[in-house]
Amino acid sequence: MNREFGDVVRRIKESADIVGIVGNVVQLKKAGNSYKGRCPFHNEKTPSFNVIPAKGIFHCFGCGAGGSVIDFVMRTEKLDFREAIEMLAKELGIELPQFRPVDPQQVDADQRLIDAVQRANNDALAWFRQNLRKGRNPLANNYLPERGISAEMEEKFQLGASLDEWTALKDHLLNLGYSEQLLVEAGLCARSENGRVYDRFRNRLIFPIFNANGKVAGFGGRQLVKDDKSAKYINSEETVLYKKSQILYALNWAREDIEKSGHAILCEGYMDVLMAHAHGFTQAVASLGTALTLPQAKLLKRFANKTFFLYDGDTAGQKAMLRGGESLLEAGFDTRVIALPPTDDPDTFLQREGAPALQQLLQNAEEFFDYALGAHAKGLDLSKLAPQAELADRMAPIINRISNEVMREGAIARLLRRIGGLPRSALGRILQQAANTANRTEPESRPAESAADRAVSSLFEGISLLDVYVLKMMLESHAALEYIRSQLRHEWIIDKKLEGWIFYFSDHDGYAQTLIDEAELENEFPGDRALLSRVMAWDHPIGDNPVRAAEQILWRLRERYQLVLTNDLLELISQKQIGSEDAQRLLTAYHLEHRSRIAQSRRLFGLDNQQASQPSE
Ligand code: UTP
Ligand code: MN
Repeated sequence: MNREFGDVVRRIKESADIVGIVGNVVQLKKAGNSYKGRCPFHNEKTPSFNVIPAKGIFHCFGCGAGGSVIDFVMRTEKLDFREAIEMLAKELGIELPQFRPVDPQQVDADQRLIDAVQRANNDALAWFRQNLRKGRNPLANNYLPERGISAEMEEKFQLGASLDEWTALKDHLLNLGYSEQLLVEAGLCARSENGRVYDRFRNRLIFPIFNANGKVAGFGGRQLVKDDKSAKYINSEETVLYKKSQILYALNWAREDIEKSGHAILCEGYMDVLMAHAHGFTQAVASLGTALTLPQAKLLKRFANKTFFLYDGDTAGQKAMLRGGESLLEAGFDTRVIALPPTDDPDTFLQREGAPALQQLLQNAEEFFDYALGAHAKGLDLSKLAPQAELADRMAPIINRISNEVMREGAIARLLRRIGGLPRSALGRILQQAANTANRTEPESRPAESAADRAVSSLFEGISLLDVYVLKMMLESHAALEYIRSQLRHEWIIDKKLEGWIFYFSDHDGYAQTLIDEAELENEFPGDRALLSRVMAWDHPIGDNPVRAAEQILWRLRERYQLVLTNDLLELISQKQIGSEDAQRLLTAYHLEHRSRIAQSRRLFGLDNQQASQPSE
């Protein structure tokens, strides 16, 4: 990683006036040592948006948005990390070093590979296009009108054709000077078991897939002749340019209109997007056969806050929406569902019914949460207790993924109304349980929460508070971080959302802030970045003896872990999977261990445990 560049990041964070920069966009009012205002990232009447200059962060308690001044500029100016750095450095008069990596040779090699794959993709696209234009595969030329694809659409989407041959593209590209190895790495060719290299896309209509900036990242190909021996569509395998969980088909053409209209339309497939655009729905993009991923949702979030699902009307489409919708909720989208007739996809619907009919459906689109509620309630008799509980169980994981606090409360209210009569407190428990199973199985018996912690835990609903506190200490005290690093065992951490960051900080040397800068530079986040600022914004001081606080918190983590082990053991005993003598011996060992931990806790917490200012769980 590039230290010089890391330095710039640090200097920007130190010298940028975050209050001033945010203040250009948001009206801020001083309140103690922070500033409050109305969040620019979601609609709100009462200010829940905070800037904490001492920590160099902003955070919205309403929608969960947060981060450093760099994050703020990224979101408001729609820039990527590097672009935001460049802009801020310029404004602050900080000189930007040339990107000079630690191992220039390796990075040069990486960059050379990326460039070469990009060139191969460009050349492949030109060839696919030529084939179509010159009618070298008549099947393709006949296919376009059959599917209602006009010459205009062909041009806009840069469609092409491959030939019904094993090495036509390969031969062409070898002639241009590419190596076989490169063609394989570019995903244009595949290598068979006996080592032969052949074209991946044969006898197919070709849909080039561009990244958001309009560079050819990969290809999709549709069979021109039905053949059950291979898939109807194939897409590029992962390459240095094509990361399927991070790419949205047609975003390059749609991004401007998505931004202008404030919403995106999300389809499943190529043909759906083509038809949508042809009918004037130029905000349409596709997730290409995979359930929408969180990185895809976040990519989309750079351009709009609202998304319409326009998936196939069949049950597979419904299932895909239910899965993908959770990513959209987590990314903070206002998500709507357009319900097509069960036998339609957007392509067939538009060709038969036309644009106004779809416009009508768009206007009547249902909120995703209600849609999910309806789908999961189907067939349940909600006048009975067991189906009521069943519905609550099914909805809990969805509710837990809504990152916006206000929206989450609203969703809970709707679920309760639907079920009728389940107390809010019972639902709270179900939500917590769902979060735990999503994390890892936890012991049933949880010590009671204190009242203050309960208020906080709504901030971190579904996240374990002990783990939050560990992360907070790592972020805010280098001494605590070093202590935790030396003592922490991975199995003590149970929270899946936080463990990425926690392990990252504990497994690498250096200050937390430096490590965050490095993650930002590499653009490889061990966890959700917004979580970091949420954790730092949590007003729960770690006290003036951070190492002792760290020691205490680790004790609690270990205690929690022991409880899990004990429960596992009891479970084994009750299922008679372990003999009574072994059980006796183990329980005695546990008992002794427990006694020594009690002694340790006396020392750590003093006689009065209640005084320790630690979040309890
Ligand atoms: P569909 O099976 O719904 O196809 O798959 P479609 O879009 O309606 O295609 P047509 O109308 O038959 O041409 C939806 C999307 O799922 C991916 C493709 O991206 C497709 O557009 N898919 C489908 C695959 O990747 N492989 C397949 O074999 C099928
Ligand atoms: Mn179709």
